[in-house]
Amino acid sequence: MAPVPVFPIKVGHIDDVQELRKGKPTTIPERFVRDMAERPSLSPALSSSTTDIPIVDFSKLVKGSKDEVLQLANACEKWGFFQVINHEIEPSLLESIEKVSKEFFMLPVEEKQKYPMAPGTVQGYGQAFVFSEDQKLDWCNMFALGLEPDFIRNPKLWPTNPAKFSETVDVYSREVRKVCKNLLKYIAMSLGLREEIFEEMFGVAVQAIRMNYYPPCSRPDLVLGLSPHSDGSALTVLQQGKDSSVGLQILKNNSWVPVQPIPTALVINIGDTIEVLTNGKYKSVEHRAVTHKEKDRLSIVTFYAPSYEIEVGPMAELVDENNPCKYRRYNHGDYSKHYVTNKLQGKKTLDFAKIQA
Ligand code: OGA
Ligand code: NI
Repeated sequence: MAPVPVFPIKVGHIDDVQELRKGKPTTIPERFVRDMAERPSLSPALSSSTTDIPIVDFSKLVKGSKDEVLQLANACEKWGFFQVINHEIEPSLLESIEKVSKEFFMLPVEEKQKYPMAPGTVQGYGQAFVFSEDQKLDWCNMFALGLEPDFIRNPKLWPTNPAKFSETVDVYSREVRKVCKNLLKYIAMSLGLREEIFEEMFGVAVQAIRMNYYPPCSRPDLVLGLSPHSDGSALTVLQQGKDSSVGLQILKNNSWVPVQPIPTALVINIGDTIEVLTNGKYKSVEHRAVTHKEKDRLSIVTFYAPSYEIEVGPMAELVDENNPCKYRRYNHGDYSKHYVTNKLQGKKTLDFAKIQA
């Protein structure tokens, strides 16, 4: 992840959402109350199966199924989100990472604050993407760690409690890395490109993990668990907690579609970097999280992106007279820095890369 920004930022006091909830379960401080236009609508979620995000069967991709590659292409092009089943990560490992994550969030706040997320940074415990005192806050506590390459690791932020936390994060992340590499291979195939194209281009890929814990909220109609955004990554892999409430929503045709958890499936989404590389053929999709009146929610999110050193721009194969180049070329490290030094605001961060018509 990017280094600490050099400009001074005034974020004001940020309440720890779990502590807030414990102390005053029905109070929603003003800073969490969204402006009208941003409040989640309470109309019941559309539940027809036509609004369910696509499912991709990884085992069929491995077996060489052309149909499944088409399904993947459709998922990437029409949705930007899909759920992967039969992905080869053991269910017991998914359970373990969920267990240690939950245990971490349930520690006393003083213990968690031994790993503080400094203002303007994105690793550690706290709230990321807060840059000003008048910014609305998300109903969420986060804990994030840089994993790969080695130089983004900050050993001071790796908890020793729960005892198995760090080891589990490492084992889990190695498995998720394999899934990302493989999915990128199949994504390349779905675009009619050489399988290895992303792997070769990315160098030593950057990988980070963020656990998001959303406590219940007495007024889910007023707050957001996580502000609308697209991810700056190439791919994002999201694991939803087993007993968690439904909370993730994606913006499709101007309405928010909930992502119904499927046990042991992983939710994958296209990040900004793939949007740029494919010249907008596969787009990153705006998403957000909402809260629930009685239930809490946990998500474990892996961000997978190219090395900071590489130059990113639309691939020549995806640019022609009918699809003129929509994004400029830039250094991926600069994009990452831009991403983590701006608040989450829909797809606004991609303006960095867009060629204005
Ligand atoms: C994220 C994200 C959604 C969720 O961390 O980037 O989109 O459901 N999380 O927690
Ligand atoms: Ni996201």
